[in-house]
Amino acid sequence: APASLAYQVALSDHARSAEQRAALLAGELGFGKYFTDHMVAIQWDKAKGWHDAQVRAYGPLALDPAAAVLHYGQEIFEGIKAYRHADGSIWTFRPEANGARLQRSAERLALPKLPVAEFTESLRQLVAVDHEWVPSAPESSLYFRPFMIASEAFLGVRAAQAASYYVIASPAGAYFAKGVAPVSIWLSEDYARAAKGGTGAAKCGGNYAASLLPQQEAYAQGCSQVLFLDPVEGRYIEELGGMNVFLVYRDGRIVTPELSGSILEGITRSSILQLARDRGLKVEERKVSIDEWKNGVASGEISEVFACGTAAVVTPIGELKGKGFVVGDIDAPAGEVTMAIRQELTDIQYGRAPDRHGWLVRL
Ligand code: PLP
Ligand code: COI
Repeated sequence: APASLAYQVALSDHARSAEQRAALLAGELGFGKYFTDHMVAIQWDKAKGWHDAQVRAYGPLALDPAAAVLHYGQEIFEGIKAYRHADGSIWTFRPEANGARLQRSAERLALPKLPVAEFTESLRQLVAVDHEWVPSAPESSLYFRPFMIASEAFLGVRAAQAASYYVIASPAGAYFAKGVAPVSIWLSEDYARAAKGGTGAAKCGGNYAASLLPQQEAYAQGCSQVLFLDPVEGRYIEELGGMNVFLVYRDGRIVTPELSGSILEGITRSSILQLARDRGLKVEERKVSIDEWKNGVASGEISEVFACGTAAVVTPIGELKGKGFVVGDIDAPAGEVTMAIRQELTDIQYGRAPDRHGWLVRL
């Protein structure tokens, strides 16, 4: 079904000037530090369904202190970008996939499902007013953060009967401070981010809350991300705090952990699997033990490892560290397959290569 919610648009009376915006966009954007002038808000309740769609000034939310999200963490989110092409047009990447994932997350967190067409429309509505915030510097983008919270004021523990959906947007550069340089990863042996039967496959705030202490441990070890193992045996690799992982074998295979029920089904992951198949690489989605990674890198059988996600795009992993071991070489250059896949994916996203899978949607 096409999107049908009627939007009320109220432009901000404190939007930044063209000069202020230009100065901000010309600086170091980093990730998630700056926000555009407007946001989308849509309300839901059990009686009325989705209603009251607005584009309004970016600003604080008024929430009842008893709102369920503040007590029981009933929250889900998405991450998706808008890319400016050389001709000035603005495109996003596979929004139906993010919209469908938001629905799966909603299902698991007992939140209402926003129709996929309304998800895409919400991005379009925000870009209609904030299009000048889509940067044009190489590798920059506008990162959308759609999210949904349980807003009902009720302390009984049950699925909330009122929820709010918002979209905010942030002009973004590289997620990691050093850009595309290889990163160090810390193996979390004491903590898992998700449980068997838990919420690991959903994109909900609680998963990230659980990853912060191990992430802090990673920083303390000089690493920029944390690697989690499966929560049952602590033997198979799952994913990083905010990215999926791929291993590239010297014999041309490309391997990523299978969807275990506790990892996030990344849209970048699925796109890379397709691009790898297209280049004739042998693709494997299966269980990968931590020993396979350690031994494979040590023996040279695994020639490259990389992380991927909307925020991280494709980022080479130079080394893996854990209690009492280090494998890999952080000073080695990024792998060839990693950089070729990164180039191909970003060429499609920025309109420099043909979109042969129909992944781009104009906003
Ligand atoms: N895994 C986790 C835990 C994430 O937060 C993300 C980022 O969204 C990903 C994987 C990659 O997903 P995607 O490629 O859809 O951004
Ligand atoms: C993304 O890549 O969109 C993410 O959500 C990862 C992280 C920044 C939370």
